[in-house]
Amino acid sequence: MIVLGIESTCDETGCAVVKDGFEVLSNIVASQIELHNEFGGVVPELACRRHVDAMLPVIEEALEVARCKLQDVDLIAVAYGPGLVGALLIGMQTAKSLSLAINKPFIGVNHVEAHLYAALMNASSPETLSVLFPSLGVILSGGHTTLLKMNAIGSYQLIGETIDDAIGESFDKVAKMLGLRYPGGPVIESLALQGDKNRFPFRGGRVKGHPKHFSFSGLKTNVLYTLKKLPHPLTHTDVCDLAASFQEAAMQDVVHKSILAAREAKCSTIILGGGVTQNQYLRKLFAEQAPDLRVIWPPLSLTLDNAAMIAGLGYHRYLLQGHGDSLDLEPQTRIEF
Ligand code: KG4
Ligand code: ZN
Repeated sequence: MIVLGIESTCDETGCAVVKDGFEVLSNIVASQIELHNEFGGVVPELACRRHVDAMLPVIEEALEVARCKLQDVDLIAVAYGPGLVGALLIGMQTAKSLSLAINKPFIGVNHVEAHLYAALMNASSPETLSVLFPSLGVILSGGHTTLLKMNAIGSYQLIGETIDDAIGESFDKVAKMLGLRYPGGPVIESLALQGDKNRFPFRGGRVKGHPKHFSFSGLKTNVLYTLKKLPHPLTHTDVCDLAASFQEAAMQDVVHKSILAAREAKCSTIILGGGVTQNQYLRKLFAEQAPDLRVIWPPLSLTLDNAAMIAGLGYHRYLLQGHGDSLDLEPQTRIEF
């Protein structure tokens, strides 16, 4: 089954062609990072306009690279949420229009669930997929910090989530405080390599009564107060030490709570997804602290927002449902697990 996937939840316009849920024939992403950099975060109105401009060229390129014609496509999958409502509308209207034009089914995919599926696309095949369950799913992105027990594709139980900022968002906000570029994650990671992670004793937030929930807004405020007390302008050493100490606190918190959740839920496999999983320090901490657990990472090409994960998961959702979604499906800014 050839699935054309479309992604437009935030600031990346993506289109991919994936065969039978696993084989990526093309995966095209038009990133808007430069557009939003000067504002230190995503400006929804600008994102929408750019999606409109980029959508059709990205689809054409994805078909061309996959050496497919639109008529070869068997299913159109699209991220229907969570995300920015205007941005979602553009992807969904495009998917619905294509579905009507070629008379093929259309299916909505949860973007957050797709981030976890990205790791499975690399690590498994149709035959080995079920062996991985139950596993602990960990989504670490600009919009989400979520722990799920994954019983099968499409069957999840929420174990923990953030009560305020998402982890990627906290990297972006701390980077902005330090006068660094958007997105903050990659810049903080590289400056942290030169910094002293023990100079500032930051800690991830604890949520009373919920040891597996997250809170990053206190950590962010702590970084702000600490940097305000330092002599200005900050030296390069100060910036690197702040970056390293912040990254240490945020990542140790995530690793600790993920491992706790995996052990409590009796999962011997942890599956990770989302842009923050690009971070090599995070990967190192998991390897050190959970040597007995199987930890599955998305390939670097599928960590950030992309449409291959949408097409891949769309294939499974279609088989599970046995039919496509109604064209009445609306974009969802939030989707609960
Ligand atoms: O998954 P993603 O592309 O978009 C959302 O669905 O949110 O994740 C983007 C987030 C941004 O907040 C960015 O700062 C963060 O992922 N990120 C990183 C790294 N690379 C990207 N965070 C920490 N370390 C990185 N190397
Ligand atoms: Zn995402």
